[in-house]
Amino acid sequence: MTVYEFAKGLILEAGINVKKIMKQDIEIETKSNPNDLVTNVDKATEKYIFDNVMQTYPEHLVIGEEGHGHNLKDESGVVWVIDPIDGTLNFVHQKENFAISIGVFNDGKPYAGFVFDVMNDVLYHAKVGEGAYENGNLLPCIESSPLNTSVIGLNPNWLTKPRLEEMFKPIVEESRSVRAYGSAALEIICVATGKLGGYITPRLQPWDFAGGLIILQEVGGIGTDLMGNALSIYEPSSIVMANPQLHAELLEFHFQKNNEIIEALQQRLKNNK
Ligand code: IPD
Ligand code: CA
Ligand code: CA
Repeated sequence: MTVYEFAKGLILEAGINVKKIMKQDIEIETKSNPNDLVTNVDKATEKYIFDNVMQTYPEHLVIGEEGHGHNLKDESGVVWVIDPIDGTLNFVHQKENFAISIGVFNDGKPYAGFVFDVMNDVLYHAKVGEGAYENGNLLPCIESSPLNTSVIGLNPNWLTKPRLEEMFKPIVEESRSVRAYGSAALEIICVATGKLGGYITPRLQPWDFAGGLIILQEVGGIGTDLMGNALSIYEPSSIVMANPQLHAELLEFHFQKNNEIIEALQQRLKNNK
């Protein structure tokens, strides 16, 4: 069995477990602030994936949101980047619209991505060079669109931050409309499936985007930071994921001229990562 097939089976099993545990009472705790939630299901799911990976591939390395993982020294080896529940607020408040996300990298290069929309039983998966799939169906390459006919994924909370508001407001105004779904992984999948033209956020952790990015790239989408730099799985970053035309337009007409705001943002991310 390949690592890809193993990971596919594992994420599906993890999803079945999530559905089982969530029938019982969910224990909710807060993390960095009262709106930053974690549940026993997040923790149990990450432990389940971590334990299974370690049992089968003891030499592999893991970066997990809830603390399971290794201190990575360099890019060598196979690295699993895991978000056990992406969209924990949705999980707690809606019991849907959340995903398990896994990105697997080999010597720093993308190998395979998985985003499992648990409640809808839809697994998005891609092995680099072999196309991206929605369950068993091959996803077509995404179509390009300019900003004025694109729907953008952007959390409105960012428009309450003074400098970001300055940068994001013209994008909101020029776009066809804006949506916020509350799970970065699923929003990146929306870009990969053409439901959104692009997804923008000033701050995301590697586990939020690793799985989705690999799937998006496999259908011709582009994911970088707001300066156009390649994303790293070792640090948080600002994010723009979009079809190629929209990605180019956003960089050229919106982000490049705001490089001062973006540089300050990236610096803040580096300081408190
Ligand atoms: C969060 C979600 C959310 C995004 C946040 C993430 P979590 O992940 O992806 O959509 O806006 O930045 O932290 O905490 O639910 O795993
Ligand atoms: Ca997340
Ligand atoms: Ca999470």
